Amino acid sequence: MIGRKVGIVGSGFVGATAAYSLTLLGTCHEVIMYDIFPDIAKGKAIDIGQSTTYSPQGTVVTHAMTLGEMSNCDIVVITAGVPRKSDMTREDLLMINAKIIKSVVGDIVKYSPNAIILCVANPLDVMSYVIHRLTNWDRNRIIGMAGALDISRMAYQINKKVGFGPGQTRAIVIGDHGENMIPLPEISAVGGIPLSQLIGKNDMDDIIQKTKEGGAEIVKHLGTSAYYAPGRAITVVVQAILDDSRIVIPSSVMLQGEYGCKDVSVGVPIVLGANGCEKIIELELDIETKNKFLTSVASIKEGIAILEKNKFFD
Ligand code: 2OP
Repeated sequence: MIGRKVGIVGSGFVGATAAYSLTLLGTCHEVIMYDIFPDIAKGKAIDIGQSTTYSPQGTVVTHAMTLGEMSNCDIVVITAGVPRKSDMTREDLLMINAKIIKSVVGDIVKYSPNAIILCVANPLDVMSYVIHRLTNWDRNRIIGMAGALDISRMAYQINKKVGFGPGQTRAIVIGDHGENMIPLPEISAVGGIPLSQLIGKNDMDDIIQKTKEGGAEIVKHLGTSAYYAPGRAITVVVQAILDDSRIVIPSSVMLQGEYGCKDVSVGVPIVLGANGCEKIIELELDIETKNKFLTSVASIKEGIAILEKNKFFD
């Protein structure tokens, strides 16, 4: 990928933090920012661009006044959408954000026809599905970014609990990015040591609960959604794709038979590389976890059914 050009659709807190984080790391040659309010994209692009004077590796930061000006991106990150307010569930956002996605996807397909799309809009799994339906692209090219965030929240909780191993903790979360997400402490590890050898069941249950509430906890304090950890998690996925590094990260991808599910985008471990989703890894789940996974899938399908009922795809 010679261009290493990344488009960010939506220059709110998450989009701008992702852009800033990308420039700090020197991940790409160009970051181009777009927002429905062009001055926001322009102002933040200038501000972030000026910060790159001190970055280890230069990044060109530009803005697009229209989506037509955001062309030939290797990756387009869709952060557009209204953020979740403290009195909303992610599902409350469904119709409004689906319409916002619809308003941008046509231009992304037209102007960046070879891109990989990272969806960061909520409800994450349903919006990722919406992008699949609207683009009709091969499924490897559409990645819902939630797992990279949820595992960072879980690793944070694990480190708080055990008191060591920051940067060495490998957590895993599957399922939807919502009430039915499934953190899996039993197959997480600190420095390669299975978590089950470090803490007991009560502590594991506590980690599960706190991971699931990770986003809501921040909304409670800030009155708006998180953006530092989401922005950083976006860069991890972008970097893996641009570098073809083939790391394993749970992400929301369209299942076509894997895990016994079809026509639904949901978080599962995948291999991330130059083609986006290079491989879906099918974990062997015990009966209890399998049932939780099916409940999670059912909740995503309920969201899709609401869109169908409202004739969103017609
Ligand atoms: C979060 O979980 C809003 O999805 C975002 O913080």
